[in-house]
Amino acid sequence: MIVLGIETSCDETAVAIIRDDKTIMANVLLSQLKEHRAFGGVVPEIAARSHMEYLQPILIAAMQYANMEFCDLDGVAATCGPGLIGGVMVGMMAGKAIASSQNIPFIAVNHLEAHALTPRLTHDLKFPYLLLLVSGGHSQILIVEDVGKYKKLGSTLDDAMGECFDKSGKLMGLPHPGGPHVEKAAMACKDTQKAFEKFPLPQPMKGRAGCDFSFSGLKTAVRLHVEKLPAGKLEYEDVSQLCYSLQETMSEIAVDRLKNAIAQFKSIYPDLQHTPALVVSGGVAANKKIRNALNSLAALHDMEFVAPPLNLCSDNGAMIAWTGVERLKRNMTNTLDIAARPRWPLEDLN
Ligand code: KG4
Ligand code: ZN
Repeated sequence: MIVLGIETSCDETAVAIIRDDKTIMANVLLSQLKEHRAFGGVVPEIAARSHMEYLQPILIAAMQYANMEFCDLDGVAATCGPGLIGGVMVGMMAGKAIASSQNIPFIAVNHLEAHALTPRLTHDLKFPYLLLLVSGGHSQILIVEDVGKYKKLGSTLDDAMGECFDKSGKLMGLPHPGGPHVEKAAMACKDTQKAFEKFPLPQPMKGRAGCDFSFSGLKTAVRLHVEKLPAGKLEYEDVSQLCYSLQETMSEIAVDRLKNAIAQFKSIYPDLQHTPALVVSGGVAANKKIRNALNSLAALHDMEFVAPPLNLCSDNGAMIAWTGVERLKRNMTNTLDIAARPRWPLEDLN
């Protein structure tokens, strides 16, 4: 079984082709970083127009890389939401057109489900598993019970974790998206003790029951620190120390919330036949400090820690094609009248 996947929900135009034995036959991606950089964030109208321009050449490149024709495909999967609706429609319509012309099934992929299932592409991961899904638009803790079956244990009450990295980075004058730049600056921090003394940050929700997050207070605290520094371009030493403090705080927040989630997971599944897994996915899962902290947390609780390789954490076509494989195997396909959805919570899936 061979499935083509198309991702256009944000600022990455991406196409991949995957076989059901997990072979990635092509995985082509074009990031629109340059198009949006001057605006300090993703501009939906520019994103949609860029997807229009790039999708066809990227599709052709992926087919050539895999040395395949459309008639070799068994199904086409495309992100149908949640995301920026203009871009989602570009990828969805292209996917439907290929499926219709080849008379093969179309799979409408929920972008969040694609992040949630990516670790099953790269690891031998059994259902159910505990998932921290942290991206630019979402921060959730879920139990992944099966394809299409999710139990939400908690989510953010305000900003997403990636959004907090991005907005904080912007406040410090770092390029968009801030997450990877915050990580790089944090790694350059020479005096970690001073970082905490000079830039203490709050940990909203710490110690509270449940698994919800809140990041807006943290972002405000970063802003207040930046405002106290001399005006103009910040000293790199200050940036690296503030980034260090921010990244440590983020990872402590993730650990604190996941402790409650692990207790809930274990009380729901006291007798699992396999080692329970703590899984992280989404763009923020590329952060090495957070990965290390979760790895230690998992070990402490006799859980296996699973995270996709760095190139499959941020948006990509492979995660969409793989979700297509998972759904096609179960005959979970869609008719061509399915609509694109700017909002599409995982709990609404089936
Ligand atoms: O999953 P993704 O590519 O797109 C969405 O679905 O939102 O996630 C993008 C988010 C951005 O906020 C970006 O700053 C963050 O993931 N991110 C990181 C890192 N790499 C990407 N955050 C922290 N550390 C990183 N290394
Ligand atoms: Zn994403």
